[in-house]
Amino acid sequence: MIDWPGLTLDENAEVFYYFSMNTDELRSKYIEFFISKAHAQIQGKSLLPDNDPTVLFTTAGMHPLVPYLLGEEHPAGKRLVDYQKCIRTGDIDSVGDASHLTFFEMLGNWSLGDYFKEGAIEMSFEFLTSPQWLGIPLEKLGITVFEGDQTVPRDEESAVVWRRLGIPADRISYRPRSDNWWGPAGTTGPCGPDSEMFIDMGKEPCGPDCAPGCSCGKWLEIWNDVFMQYNKTAEGVYEPLARICVDTGMGIERTVTILNNKKSVYDTEIFTPIIGAVEKAAAYTYGVDPEKDRSVRIISDHVRAATFVLGDPKAVSPSNVGAGYVLRRLIRRAVRHGRKLGIAGLVLSPLARVIIDQLKGPYPELVENQGYIIAELDKEEGKFLETLQKGEHEFEKLLPSLLKDPRKTMSGRLAFKLYDTYGFPLELTQELAAEQGFTINRAEFDEAFKKHQELSRSGGEQIFKGGLGDQGEMAVKYHTATHLLHKALRMVLGDHVAQKGSNITAERMRFDFSHSAPLGADELERVQAIVNEQIRRDLPVTMAMMSLDDAKASGAIALFGEKYEFQVKVYTIGDFSKEVCGGPHVEHTGAMGAFKIQKEQSSSAGVRRIRAVLE
Ligand code: SER
Repeated sequence: MIDWPGLTLDENAEVFYYFSMNTDELRSKYIEFFISKAHAQIQGKSLLPDNDPTVLFTTAGMHPLVPYLLGEEHPAGKRLVDYQKCIRTGDIDSVGDASHLTFFEMLGNWSLGDYFKEGAIEMSFEFLTSPQWLGIPLEKLGITVFEGDQTVPRDEESAVVWRRLGIPADRISYRPRSDNWWGPAGTTGPCGPDSEMFIDMGKEPCGPDCAPGCSCGKWLEIWNDVFMQYNKTAEGVYEPLARICVDTGMGIERTVTILNNKKSVYDTEIFTPIIGAVEKAAAYTYGVDPEKDRSVRIISDHVRAATFVLGDPKAVSPSNVGAGYVLRRLIRRAVRHGRKLGIAGLVLSPLARVIIDQLKGPYPELVENQGYIIAELDKEEGKFLETLQKGEHEFEKLLPSLLKDPRKTMSGRLAFKLYDTYGFPLELTQELAAEQGFTINRAEFDEAFKKHQELSRSGGEQIFKGGLGDQGEMAVKYHTATHLLHKALRMVLGDHVAQKGSNITAERMRFDFSHSAPLGADELERVQAIVNEQIRRDLPVTMAMMSLDDAKASGAIALFGEKYEFQVKVYTIGDFSKEVCGGPHVEHTGAMGAFKIQKEQSSSAGVRRIRAVLE
């Protein structure tokens, strides 16, 4: 038996070939294989999705294909293959660890009403194990299939095919919906049970229950075959798809890391040129200091993602909303970590050039948009550096009086002022203070921050007025209803809808939101039905504390300016809504009663007002 993955070139040069596969080879082999199986290669699509208000970025290879999975004819036929650029911002907080990425490429093949479980699994098996393709030894493969629940039966069909192909029964693991169900890219869309393929990394099992799908590190997933059978509607109902389809997805970066037996994606040829450039700029050697390594990884990942967002045919520029906000956050976080590494001058655009050069083959748009990418990176970085300089300057002005303090503590209120007035991040004030041998009174900072937050909530923005003042039972119910209504409006009218204010009494709620035209009767009806469906589903309402940046990255709707960076409450209502808010809320939506819209009217220019009751 081949001792893989501990294999080296000297021990077995022949097999090594398959396991030193780089991204270009993997991409071409995959496409070539599926073309040989009568698939048509289609172009990957924009990173900024068309007509999907539920997500900011294309999150998976199947995402642009949703209309076809839902029944539309695809001009290229029933069997398709492609590679697709993707961004998942849900993972942004984990970036910096050794495995998470913001930007990644996904390979995928699709059957639109053509082959189903058997065909998909046979092809997956052949591509993975045949020496002509990946040549992964059979004994290194593990499989998971859906174990079934009240709504969908156990996926014995897939298990049978895997066993017939030679996977031993003890390496086929039945897993619950939380593992083996592919949900829609947004909140609605095609979905179904899936069968996932894993590589055994050769580690000892973590216990008697350790099987494919176990997260201990023994089994790493490389591919996912999804058997699309349902469409999840806005009302949360699973309706059968007009025609059953297959959606498969293989993450390129992940697979290359595993096939090359690297500890981390950052040790592969995908990242070594970028990291090399960071090392040079920072005069630092990656691998020496864990804290610095984390910064190197954050910069490398974020610049890669920013380069692709800016290089997209539908590029946005850094801003304070939507995809532009994520882009701004990626850039600023990278700049901050560049400074941490002591890089002087522009950090990002030289790295973008490395990335463009690396990926211009599969993504020629990067070359076409190179001028724009570089200019926007330089501009945003410049702007942020100015903010930082202003903050530093203000800090220096404070220094003489600070130095007189025998306790060596800087007041939290002063730190808050730097943050509030100049947008100077607390962690940088902390850094400057540390250089002078000071600490910052964090409790005081948090208090000033909280006070300010409350003031801005009950004051200028008029948000949650009533909700905060009146915490009677009905007001609390109406408060939860504003979140449901907010999300429902965004689903029906689009992502431009933002809450402009609300007013709650024990008898009714009023909700103001940005939208330029009166709502039609059908739109109002749909909004009302969506809210009532969530009440009927009796969704749990949960709260978590996090920074506003993290809240936004997790997809929460936030109403405040980006400078309120520290601990906010995020209320999550089942799988339906996530919003930054002070609370309070009901614990379960089922307790709210029936939601009824009484009136819709103009409130001011570009702002509509809905009056509604809970009966
Ligand atoms: N949609 C599935 C995934 O992203 C398979 O493509 O894993």
